[in-house]
Amino acid sequence: MASQPTQMKAWLYSSTTNGLEKNLTLNASTRAPPTISGDNVLIQVLSASLNPADFKVPEMGLLARKLVIGTPASPGMDFCGRVVIAGPGASAFSPGQLVYGCLSKPAQFGSLGEYLVASASLLAPVPEGVEIDHAASIGIAGQTAYQSLAGYVSAGDKVFVNGGSGGCGIFAIQIAKEMGCHVTATCSAKNVEFVRGLGADVVIDYSAGDVVARLRADGVVFDHIIDHVGYPAPLYRESHHFLAPGKAFVQVGASAMATFAERLVVPGFLGGGKRKYVIFFFKNTREDLVKVGELVQKGAVKIQLDTVFEFEDAVQAFEKLRSGRARGKIIVHVAKP
Ligand SMILES: NC(=O)c1ccc[n+]([C@@H]2O[C@H](COP(=O)([O-])OP(=O)(O)OC[C@H]3O[C@@H](n4cnc5c(N)ncnc54)[C@H](OP(=O)(O)O)[C@@H]3O)[C@@H](O)[C@H]2O)c1
Repeated sequence: MASQPTQMKAWLYSSTTNGLEKNLTLNASTRAPPTISGDNVLIQVLSASLNPADFKVPEMGLLARKLVIGTPASPGMDFCGRVVIAGPGASAFSPGQLVYGCLSKPAQFGSLGEYLVASASLLAPVPEGVEIDHAASIGIAGQTAYQSLAGYVSAGDKVFVNGGSGGCGIFAIQIAKEMGCHVTATCSAKNVEFVRGLGADVVIDYSAGDVVARLRADGVVFDHIIDHVGYPAPLYRESHHFLAPGKAFVQVGASAMATFAERLVVPGFLGGGKRKYVIFFFKNTREDLVKVGELVQKGAVKIQLDTVFEFEDAVQAFEKLRSGRARGKIIVHVAKP
């Protein structure tokens, strides 16, 4: 059995005043790696991909940081890395094996630290031929996209993806196409060709005009809506003009938390939305990790990386993430493969 490492490098935060990334400090060697038991696996992280939840959850307040996460903490949930030690209940994994996955919530040992612990039940071996950075990108965004479509759509359905060029958008467009759907997606002018290249049948440049007016003009054509953005504000309220009766409007993300509440609580007869409103919560499952990994392996989903940062540049990686302008996924290299 491999021996427990005694020190690790890690980016750490204890506070999020003025933004998590303003509080990140690089601890080069003094942190003790986590220990494992049961079905847990100690993983040396090679590559981490970032998601908005990496800063949004810690910034929810002191209670979230102290009770849910525990500080000082390393941010980051998505990872690809190598098994160092597999616990007694994790016999499916062995030292040296390449694995990928994500933590189900921000934790004290996140993926911007050299070692983390994950349950064997939430890990998948990296499929043959899939690059480490690509495997690291799948965790949250890949599963989110898959889960926001599976069970809602079938081949031939028309899907509207609001926010097609971000971390979730790139997966949602390609997975919907793989499911046989017709996809309309929004993005800004600079990303139109990129989003078309992902397979979107219709691309709407949100910076060129009124998205809701454009959708209304085409009539009730959609069988499913995934909203990653929460903007424009009337998108849900007006959705009965372009989403078929009985079909769902799935709210994956929004820049303002108030969007969820406003859209949820105002009833249709008082001017709220008249279609089924679903607030989406991603669920971490090995089954979906593997499914999306297989789509990546067979080339149905091509991972698009906005920027690959070196470990020392994690603060800049967070600044890019927070800008809300990432085209695809943001990667941080944690250790050399
Ligand atoms: N509920 C859950 O369980 C769950 C799971 C995963 C993610 N989320 C949430 O889902 C949201 C999206 O996540 P993500 O990882 O895709 O974020 P992201 O990668 O940061 O998204 C960035 C992208 O959003 C696009 N965008 C910004 N404003 C837009 C607008 N008005 N219309 C269309 N596109 C716009 C940007 O394109 P331009 O530069 O062209 O504007 C950029 O490509 C976030 O709020 C995240 O927190 C929730």
